[in-house]
Order: sequence, then C-alpha cells, then structure tokens
Amino acid sequence: MSNKITNSKILVTGGAGFIGSYVVEYLLPHQPQKIIIIDNLIRGSHENMASFANHPLVEFVEGDICDTALLEKCMAGCDYVFHLAALRINSCAASPKDGFNVMLKATFDVAELCVKHKIKKIIYSSSASVYGLAQHFPTPESDNPYDNQTFYGAAKMWGEQLFRSYKFMYGLDYCALRYFNAYGPRMDTDGKYTEVMIKWLDCIRDGRNPLIFGDGATTMDFVYVKDIAKSNVAALLSDATDEAFNIGNCVETSLKELLQLLLSVNNSSLQPEFRGENTVNPVSKRLADISKAKAMLDFTPTISLEEGLKELSQWYFSKQKV
Ligand SMILES: NC(=O)c1ccc[n+]([C@@H]2O[C@H](COP(=O)([O-])OP(=O)(O)OC[C@H]3O[C@@H](n4cnc5c(N)ncnc54)[C@H](O)[C@@H]3O)[C@@H](O)[C@H]2O)c1
Repeated sequence: MSNKITNSKILVTGGAGFIGSYVVEYLLPHQPQKIIIIDNLIRGSHENMASFANHPLVEFVEGDICDTALLEKCMAGCDYVFHLAALRINSCAASPKDGFNVMLKATFDVAELCVKHKIKKIIYSSSASVYGLAQHFPTPESDNPYDNQTFYGAAKMWGEQLFRSYKFMYGLDYCALRYFNAYGPRMDTDGKYTEVMIKWLDCIRDGRNPLIFGDGATTMDFVYVKDIAKSNVAALLSDATDEAFNIGNCVETSLKELLQLLLSVNNSSLQPEFRGENTVNPVSKRLADISKAKAMLDFTPTISLEEGLKELSQWYFSKQKV
C-alpha cells in the first residue's frame, strides 16, 4: 500500500479524541513517516490512544492548539493536517468565549500555519450542525446553513468558509467533512454531556427501564466512528479540494427505534418509559445524502447500526469489567 500518506509527516489535532484516535489508527497501515498528535486531553485520553501508544511513528504532544507557538512547532515540516480538535456543541453554548478561542481563533491559526508551512492538504472536521434543520431530506451539501442556531454550527460553517477563502487566496487544498451523528467505542461515557446511548446502556446494565424524553420521534443519521475515520483517509487520498462532504450512514433512525435496537442487540426485555420533554430540540430530523462523497471520495459506510450498536455495547460493558 503506497500512496501520498506513505513517508509523509502528518499532524492530527484532537488525535486523542473519539474520532481522531481512529483516524490515527487508519493512517498507520499506509506507512507515514511520522504522525504528530496535539491534544490537551480536555476530552481525549491516553486510553483512546492505547493501540498506538508505543508506536515508533506516533508522537503525542500534550498541549493546547490555542498555544500558537506549540501548534507551529508541531506543524513545521508536516505534509498534511487533519484538524479535529474542537469543543462540543454544549461546551460552546456554555462558554462561547472558549468556543471562540478554540473553534475560531485556533482554527484561524491552523489555516495561517498551513500556508506558512506549505501544507499540501488539510482535512477539516465539520458537522451536520451547519444545516440546523435542513431544507431537504436526504440532505445534500447544497442545503443552506441559515437555519443553524448554535454557536458550534456557526463556528463549523465559519471554519469551512475560512478554508474556502484560504484556497482562493493562497491555494491551500482542503476538504471539509460534515459528520452526522457519530457513535461507537470510545465515545464519551462519563463527561458532563454523556450521550443518550451510554445512559441507556447504563440502564440495561442496571436493569432499569430506559427513559425517553418527549415522544422519541426525533430522527438522526447514526454513522459509525470507523466509517468516519475511513472518510478522513479517503478525503486525503482523493484529488478533491475546496469541497464539503456529508458523512452519514443514510439511514434515518428515530430515538425510539434506536432504543429498541439497543435493547434488542443486548437481548434486553426492558421497556422504554416516556417522560415530558425538558428541552426543545430545534433539529427534529437528520438524514444525509452522501452521493457526493460516494462519487468523489469513493466513500461508502460499511457498518450497519445494528452491528455498530453491538460493538459499542461490547466495548462499554467490557470496559466496566476492568
Ligand atoms: N462526535 C460527533 O458526533 C461529531 C459530529 C460532527 C462533527 N464532529 C467533529 O469531529 C471532530 C472530532 O470530534 P470527536 O467526537 O472525536 O470529539 P472529541 O471531543 O472526542 O475530540 C476532540 C479532541 O480535541 C481535543 N481538544 C479540544 N480542545 C482542544 C484544544 N484547545 N487543544 C488541543 N486539543 C483540544 C479534545 O481533548 C479531544 O481529544 C470535532 O471537530 C467535532 O466537532 C463530531
């Protein structure tokens, strides 16, 4: 397997995180010269990086991308960059100032340094949040972002537009990947904003009926983390530039269906209990149209929700035994 990753030096921001750690794992078989990870471990962990902790080609730098001098030290001499370091949607809402520093200011520094250090291509982690509630389903990349109401979505849109302008002004090649609802092993289990899947797995473990707030009709497009990692490598290897791509699984699943499937893969006879909705979710529906990623990146998701939920459950329950 020899391609442009082979013998290249690659920087992965946020490489200790949920998705970033899989990106590193998917890059390694291509024999890069070196992979440098910068991550301040605000959400990522050494545990996520366990499979490559002692790998001779991987260097982990514990540090903040807001430290421009450190960021430059990490980027100098690199060929490619994957920019994944970011704050979560709820953290941005809790502190827009932190959101600004990480999502906008540091991403601006990333773009500036890419130009200064002649990076050949950057892959930027964007999000389906840019759409807010989309206009069309399945949602193509051409839907507009004017319905987004979140700081996080605004920051991701700005990031995409920043890289567009740097392509236009300086010729910096980039692809932006708009992930839909990522899930899988290594997803956050004990942070402040634990995902609903993990809360339900806790119920299954403890034999408590899982709760659904509202009617459970909100739909999402759940895409397995390893498929997302593959899309990152595909975006780098392709000749595509100045493009944004949806990365989803193209299956619309309601929260109610998600819970039924999670119960079923765990052979559980627990019953969902419905409670009044405590917050209003303005995005009631998500479904990706990924025909562009299929055509230009040769990207097709390979892991069904059922298979992914099995892997997630196995990982989560075995993690608790140690
Ligand atoms: N998980 C999802 O459902 C999802 C959906 C759409 C987009 N995304 C995007 O994908 C990327 C990866 O997300 P993830 O789910 O792996 O989240 P994550 O929180 O697990 O990963 C982000 C990583 O960035 C690190 N980080 C945060 N701020 C930093 C800083 N200032 N300096 C250095 N490191 C910092 C964190 O410690 C973490 O390891 C992010 O850009 C995210 O916005 C994720």
